[in-house]
Amino acid sequence: MNKDEIAEILTCESADIYYKKADAIRREYCGNIVHLRALIEFSNFCKKQCLYCGINAKNKNVKRYRLSEQDIVKSAKYAQKIGFKTIVLQSGEDDYFDVKKMCTIIEKIKELNLVITLSIGEKTKDEYRAYKDSGADRYLLRIETTDENLYKKLHPNSDFKNRLKCLYNLKELGFELGSGIMVGLPQQSIESIADDILFFKKIDVDMVGLGPFISNSETELKNFPNGSYELALRSIAATRLLMPDINVPATTAMETLLKEGRKIALQSGANVVMPNITPQNIRGNYSLYPNKQSVNALDDDSLNLLREEIASIGDSISDDFGTSLHFKK
Ligand code: 5AD
Repeated sequence: MNKDEIAEILTCESADIYYKKADAIRREYCGNIVHLRALIEFSNFCKKQCLYCGINAKNKNVKRYRLSEQDIVKSAKYAQKIGFKTIVLQSGEDDYFDVKKMCTIIEKIKELNLVITLSIGEKTKDEYRAYKDSGADRYLLRIETTDENLYKKLHPNSDFKNRLKCLYNLKELGFELGSGIMVGLPQQSIESIADDILFFKKIDVDMVGLGPFISNSETELKNFPNGSYELALRSIAATRLLMPDINVPATTAMETLLKEGRKIALQSGANVVMPNITPQNIRGNYSLYPNKQSVNALDDDSLNLLREEIASIGDSISDDFGTSLHFKK
């Protein structure tokens, strides 16, 4: 697919045929299987000032928290006990968790025979290498937008080129690599979203997470409208059509804008769900955007609901580690 063809998917009157095609391609390449990842948001301290994000350093109204190393490992144990095979450790860019602390956590969680995905932002290549050597398997770093001008406006004191470098470093070090964008950012054009999708292919990612921009009243972008669910869904379908064998999550932002949003995404190219297992008492403080939906306390009931939803669309939950087929090749 070239840029025009992607733009056509993003703009045509009805994208139903593309949703169906993306669903068929996902089922052909990845099977009738959904992978689950347990997400632990272990710190909402962040030194960055991303204009869209509720936990940016300038927001004084967030109650900041850090989980202790013991509590992070405890959460991982819980995830393993209830059947997860992958744990995603996400945080703001929080220097408290230096490389030594992170590596200790990684090593302890690896003893549980879990796959570890890190999503902790921009670090040096040496730091990434240390995580890898300690046993981290995957890394998520969204590029957010490949429009360099827009990137600059949204990310004060950040360097687009460094973010790119981080992605290339992660790739070189052998991480299973995920990236992604927000769809519907202020001043983001259709062309630029098409470029983003081509960029994922170019850097050869194994996972693409994308969701609509959701306006947060605690941020500088408070007066801008939300991105559209539908445009995000079209972007998911186009991504799947371009990259048949990667993993694509039905992201939390998709659920947040539409009640059935997760299920629809899983029928339009997505094949991963990342239930949140951050301890209930602090979870509300990881407030990237308002009304962030998370599977509530992950008890037997809510897991059963998720299972039912997945079964209702003809899928079953994977019982392996869920490594992207693209990565395995
Ligand atoms: N709306 C939607 N997504 C957001 N993120 C951060 N803030 C918002 C927002 N206001 C996304 C970013 C980040 C991921 C963890 O959450 O893409 O990479």
